[in-house]
Amino acid sequence: MKPCCNQTNVVVLVLVALCLVNISSSLKLGETCGPEKKCNGGLQCGTCAANGNTRSRCIRTQPISPTSKVKGLAFNRYSWLTSHNSFAQCGAKSEAGTFLITATTQEDSVTQQLNNGVRGLMLDMYDFRNDIWKHAINVLKEVNSFLEANPSEIATIFIEDYVSSPNGLSKVFNDSGLKKYWFPVSNMPKTGEDWPTVDNMVQNNQRLIVFTSKSSKEESEGIAYQWKYVIENHYGDEGMIKGSCPNRGESSAMNDKSKSLIMMNYFRTNVNATAACSDNSAPLADMLNTCHDAANSRWPNFIVVDFYLRSDGGGAPEAVDKANGHLTCGCDNIAYCKANATYGTCDVPPISPPPPAALPPSAPADTGNQPPPKSEEEEEADRESAFKLLLQLLSVMLWEINTFFTLL
Ligand SMILES: *[C@@H]1O[C@H](CO)[C@@H](O)[C@H](O)[C@H]1NC(C)=O
Ligand SMILES: *[C@@H]1O[C@H](CO)[C@@H](O)[C@H](O)[C@H]1NC(C)=O
Ligand SMILES: *[C@@H]1O[C@H](CO)[C@@H](O)[C@H](O)[C@H]1NC(C)=O
Repeated sequence: MKPCCNQTNVVVLVLVALCLVNISSSLKLGETCGPEKKCNGGLQCGTCAANGNTRSRCIRTQPISPTSKVKGLAFNRYSWLTSHNSFAQCGAKSEAGTFLITATTQEDSVTQQLNNGVRGLMLDMYDFRNDIWKHAINVLKEVNSFLEANPSEIATIFIEDYVSSPNGLSKVFNDSGLKKYWFPVSNMPKTGEDWPTVDNMVQNNQRLIVFTSKSSKEESEGIAYQWKYVIENHYGDEGMIKGSCPNRGESSAMNDKSKSLIMMNYFRTNVNATAACSDNSAPLADMLNTCHDAANSRWPNFIVVDFYLRSDGGGAPEAVDKANGHLTCGCDNIAYCKANATYGTCDVPPISPPPPAALPPSAPADTGNQPPPKSEEEEEADRESAFKLLLQLLSVMLWEINTFFTLL
């Protein structure tokens, strides 16, 4: 063995190895994944046994950022992914070490939710009751850090308000640092007009919208009373009946045009982690159309779900993309919007992105002469042989390095 050209060999081998690693570690939407086969960014590996989808596949965790795709529209011309009981995280512990009493409805922290593109948070807030109150401040601090780090992002908080101490909420927003981003009630449209544009809100640094469920707080603390500005369908099981989209009691009728924002709830009365992936898939997309029709042909600005990470493919992020397509450019999905095109000019890809939820039970007889597509097992075998080759190359490389240094 001549030691002369080892260095170049090593470099070539490293490059080849890097290429192989790259090939074997980038799985797209719908592809079979596992502990050693990771999904691309914006996806995670999951199953949905509740609708018979037991194959681990890459499923979406993030909607397309609507404001980066179609810029500068009025705030109510966008739809935002919204998490129900945003801080009821699985396994989250209170300060005293006991589990939070709220039923867990999400699996990641508010920071992770925001990083995944969640822009609407629903938070239950109570009077100063030790742990829970502290937890609320910490969650708001997470929102504050996110808005600080992302100066062109806008967030909306919906408070289920059980706070009765005077200025209790104002104080907690003050303490979290969020007051500086406050969008004033006086700038909110009162009779169904457009909201200011997102650019305007960013320029004025009014990037936090807060709604409370207590009407008196608008007068006393300047916190907007939710149902003066937002129309909302029924939450819980009443909001999940196929083909119907009734308003919740506090909200005016779905077709009331005097409010410019629309919220669509789609989660069960009794939290069900197993069923969520199924709920967040086809039935959610179906309800999007139902509520659009009920709301005088308006698409929801806030799509609210439990376990937003769970689905059998596109899930809640896909539903938000659909609403944004219609809202921003008149296409069925914001992915189809063309830059600077007139409204309704769409760029629909030949094969639409969401793959079928499950593998076909058995492929029908081949009609053409083309070779049959590779089966899961064959693809698996391909990846395995690529991995083996990689290992071989690595051991050759180590051996060569070893030889090189021995000879020095
Ligand atoms: C919020 O903070 C400002 C200044 O930091 C202060 O003037 C105001 O009184 C505070 N409000 C409450 C309710 O704590
Ligand atoms: C949760 O959903 C699953 C799947 O739909 C169902 O089998 C189960 O009974 C539900 N659990 C509860 C407590 O409702
Ligand atoms: C769209 O318009 C903007 C602003 O006029 C311009 O900067 C951008 O290059 C245009 N994009 C395309 C794809 O035409």
